[in-house]
Amino acid sequence: MRIDVVSIFPSYFDGLTLSLLGKARDSGILDLNVHDLRDWTGDRHRTVDDTPYGGGAGMVMKPEPWGLALDQLAAEPTRAASVPERVEGRPTIIFPSPAGEVFRQSTARELADREHLIFGCGRYEGIDERVFEEAAALGEVRLISLGDYVLNGGEVAVMAMVEAIGRLIPGVVGNPESLVEESHEDGLLEYPSYTKPSVWRDREVPPILLSGNHGAIAAWRREQQIERTRRRRPDLLPDDEG
Ligand code: ADE
Repeated sequence: MRIDVVSIFPSYFDGLTLSLLGKARDSGILDLNVHDLRDWTGDRHRTVDDTPYGGGAGMVMKPEPWGLALDQLAAEPTRAASVPERVEGRPTIIFPSPAGEVFRQSTARELADREHLIFGCGRYEGIDERVFEEAAALGEVRLISLGDYVLNGGEVAVMAMVEAIGRLIPGVVGNPESLVEESHEDGLLEYPSYTKPSVWRDREVPPILLSGNHGAIAAWRREQQIERTRRRRPDLLPDDEG
C-alpha cells in the first residue's frame, strides 16, 4: 500500500519510523511518504492560510497549495511490495475532520484494502471547501473524525488512523492471530489477559486459565468479553445481549 500524508507539520509523523510500521516501511510492505504542504506554495513566505470570506475568527487554508499537492500525489504510482505492478486505480483521499464520519475498526479494515491513501491534514479553521470538490475529481474523498472532540489539527488523528490501518496490512503484524482476538474485531471488547507469576501481591490468576481445558477457557473468555462490553460499552452490544 502507498500512503501519502500532507501536513504543515511533517515532523509530527517522525514516530511512524518506529516499531512495526517502521519495519513495514523498511521492508517495502508500506510505502509511506510524508510531505510538507508548503512545498506547493509559490510565494516567499510559503503562505498556506488567509482570512475567511464573510468574516469570522481564525484563518482558512488556501486552496492553491492543496490543489497542486493533491494533483501531483494522486498521479503518482503505487510501488509498495504488496503491489507487484503499477496500479492505475484512483486514490482514496482522506481529510481528518471533527465534522466527518467516525473512524472505527470497520473503517480501518475497509481502508486497509486500498492501494493508495492520501491524508490531508487541515489546521486553523479548516481548508477552503473547494479543495474537497476538486479532490473528488481525483479519487474517493472521505472526511473522517477520530471522535467527538476537537483537536488542534488533523495530524494526531492521521497518526492514529495510519497505525490502525497499517497494522491490518498483511505482513505488518508478525502473528496475524493476534489481530483476530482483540477488541472490536468481533464487535466486543477484548477479554482480560494474565501472565506469570500465577500469584502476584496476593492476586491470583483466574483458576480456569490454569486448567488446561481449552473449551472451558474459550467459554470463560467469551463471557468476560460480553460482561466487559456490557459494563463499559453497552452501545456496542446488539439488543439481545444488552
Ligand atoms: N481535527 C480536529 N479535530 C479532529 C477530530 N476529532 N478528528 C479528526 N480530525 C480532527
